[in-house]
Amino acid sequence: MDVETIWQDGSFVDWDDATVHVLTHGLHYGTGVFEGVRCYDTQNGPAIFRWDEHLERLYQSAQPYDMEIPYTREELTEATLELLRREQLESCYIRPVAFYGYGSLGVSPGDNPVDVAIAAWPWGAYLGEEALTNGVEVMISSWRKHASSQIPTNAKTTGLYVNSLLAGEEARRNGYTEAIVLNKEGNVAEGPGENIFMIRDGEIYTPGLSESILDGITRDTVIELAQDRGYTVHDRATISRGELNTADELFFSGTAAEVTPIRKVDNVVIGDGGRGPVTEELQQAFFDLINRETDAHAEWFSYVWAVRAGYLNHHISLSESTVDYLRLIHPGRLK
Ligand SMILES: Cc1ncc(COP(=O)(O)O)c(C=O)c1O
Repeated sequence: MDVETIWQDGSFVDWDDATVHVLTHGLHYGTGVFEGVRCYDTQNGPAIFRWDEHLERLYQSAQPYDMEIPYTREELTEATLELLRREQLESCYIRPVAFYGYGSLGVSPGDNPVDVAIAAWPWGAYLGEEALTNGVEVMISSWRKHASSQIPTNAKTTGLYVNSLLAGEEARRNGYTEAIVLNKEGNVAEGPGENIFMIRDGEIYTPGLSESILDGITRDTVIELAQDRGYTVHDRATISRGELNTADELFFSGTAAEVTPIRKVDNVVIGDGGRGPVTEELQQAFFDLINRETDAHAEWFSYVWAVRAGYLNHHISLSESTVDYLRLIHPGRLK
């Protein structure tokens, strides 16, 4: 990893020194919340995609666990921007995590501190470049998703991801790229790290929040892009397992997976067995969006460097001395 620094509990530390005690509460009980965010190297410079929404979800994820993140949104934003600037990261994945730290090892976290870290590193296509064009083959997992009556499935909690691990690894052991996980009722929930969309007769369907899914930010982006293009989107759908087989098109959405077509489910060919036309249109819209080939949804981009007037947003509040310093170390970057 060509990155030297991680932000941990208020300071920038060497990558190798960003460690925790083995009796950290979150390590034993999965009591952490996290985010996965992408920064894109747009034609206006690197920009974090939908940072505000990710940050909001991080704080909301912490709520059911009475976890008070001891930093403000502004502090975490500044830390992230500073990290990306220090490491001169352009296109990267950003991982903020907050967890109950070292102290009591009872299940109750008591007065344990809430530790926070932010790491970032370059990361390409999650399911592979080829997957974006040709789609992936997926398996319906034998593992069911936890019900939202058992655990808050709309919180991005570290402990929940053992379910994702089980489903994903089972799929890969069986020769598939990824899994689809059904909910307790046996209807379609989502992928281990993705939401799912179905296209039938020109309309778009995606499971609703009560189907035990994470309220994906890419899901929301895709819904908006589809509606911008005049599609009818059913975003509270209940999708049965059998409906997947007869879908015209299926695709995954997620920060990591972006918009990835699904070409087969349990060896059943979906549609024409490749990337369907609606998926391709929405995928193109998504890539145009994140590359800033369009002016639409400018509010979703937080630019890492001060860039052309008109693209400044409220996250960019550099002091004059910082600007002078940045000009010095990165001549040409500041416009
Ligand atoms: C279980 C699960 N569902 C859906 C998603 C997609 O969410 P987002 O688009 O916010 O990345 C993710 C990834 O964060 C996830 O882990």
